[in-house]
Amino acid sequence: MKQKAVLAFSGGLDTSVVIKYLQEKHRMDVITVTVDVGEGSDQKKIAAKAKNLGVLRHYNIDAKKEFVDDFIHPSIKANALYQNKYCLATSLARPLIAQKVLEVAKKEKVDALAHGCTGKGNDQVRFDVTFGSGSNLPIIAPIRDLNLDRTTELEFANKHGIPIDSVSKKFSIDQNLWGRAIEGGDMEDPYNEPPDDAFIWVKTKNLPDKARYLEIEFEHGIPVAVDKKRLSPIKLIEYCNKVAGSCGVGIVDHIEDRVVGIKSREVYETPAALCLIEAHSDLEKMVHTKHQNKFKSIVDQEWTWLAYSGLWQDPLKRDLDKFIDQSQKVVTGTVKLKLYKGSFRVVGRKSKYSLYSHNIATYGKGSAFDQRKATGFVELWGLQTTEANKLSNKR
Ligand code: ARG
Repeated sequence: MKQKAVLAFSGGLDTSVVIKYLQEKHRMDVITVTVDVGEGSDQKKIAAKAKNLGVLRHYNIDAKKEFVDDFIHPSIKANALYQNKYCLATSLARPLIAQKVLEVAKKEKVDALAHGCTGKGNDQVRFDVTFGSGSNLPIIAPIRDLNLDRTTELEFANKHGIPIDSVSKKFSIDQNLWGRAIEGGDMEDPYNEPPDDAFIWVKTKNLPDKARYLEIEFEHGIPVAVDKKRLSPIKLIEYCNKVAGSCGVGIVDHIEDRVVGIKSREVYETPAALCLIEAHSDLEKMVHTKHQNKFKSIVDQEWTWLAYSGLWQDPLKRDLDKFIDQSQKVVTGTVKLKLYKGSFRVVGRKSKYSLYSHNIATYGKGSAFDQRKATGFVELWGLQTTEANKLSNKR
């Protein structure tokens, strides 16, 4: 009997090539799994493509709700922006996709797990570590194993009659609810400006002349309503992507350090993520003490690093999740963002847990803060600094 492999299938170039490769070189039957995390692609078309490529069975799993509840929401709580820029859209989706592949692998009693990641990226780490954390099955990664490049893959696709759409010819795209990563083409020269046609969520021309406000309401660190409308978690993200994108907000272009050491030029469209994380972190500053703020930013960075670098399953991440969840009890309130021609900023915030005291902060008459007490405080606060300088001046 033929051996079986289960493959995480996106319908794109890499994973289509992998199907043929597993069938021809490994002589295996292929079971494909497409996990919908909001790619916006036609799942029926992907299923048809898999069937045309001769797979034994195809699974389509809608995991959008899980993606938001168990991956995106924790990342908002952690203000997760890798290298202060990247909202982890791809990084968060991979462990979930890999988990779903594992579920199918168990059900189908397969002999191997497969993915279409290259050996140059972060995704291989996320897949391999999730696979390895949940099973002992061998992992086949043909693109990596054969050291394939895009041009060779396109030739292979042509030869085997694998249909490729025009966008994937130009760019390498990975897209889900939380963001859209655009790589390749002329953008591989980091000095080249990304062409306008790389973007489909964010408007780059003829932006509205009037500012648009977004009012985001959080409960325990999770966004629950926008513009006074309570929306389901998925709808809320879609709404923010749409509104912010229409104001030109959401493009990120930066140099990123990959786990394997490569520096890469990354371009993203992530309107909702940028707005929601900015609003969330602003609200935290209002409801947490300065000690909480200082320490949590260290935890956030570590959390983000673990999620980016494929260590979603590490026990440390679970420990940090507990800390972060505890810190979110008071992160309830509303933040007002102003969006205008590609820029955005927080222009207001309020919370029933606010630690801001007008009475103390005011420069006006009758403040409860007695300035005179500051003199002694400042003297002791700076004691070592002033003494150190006095002593070194003497020497
Ligand atoms: N650099 C990002 C990450 O590692 C995005 C990768 C996009 N992946 C892709 N196959 N185009 O998460």
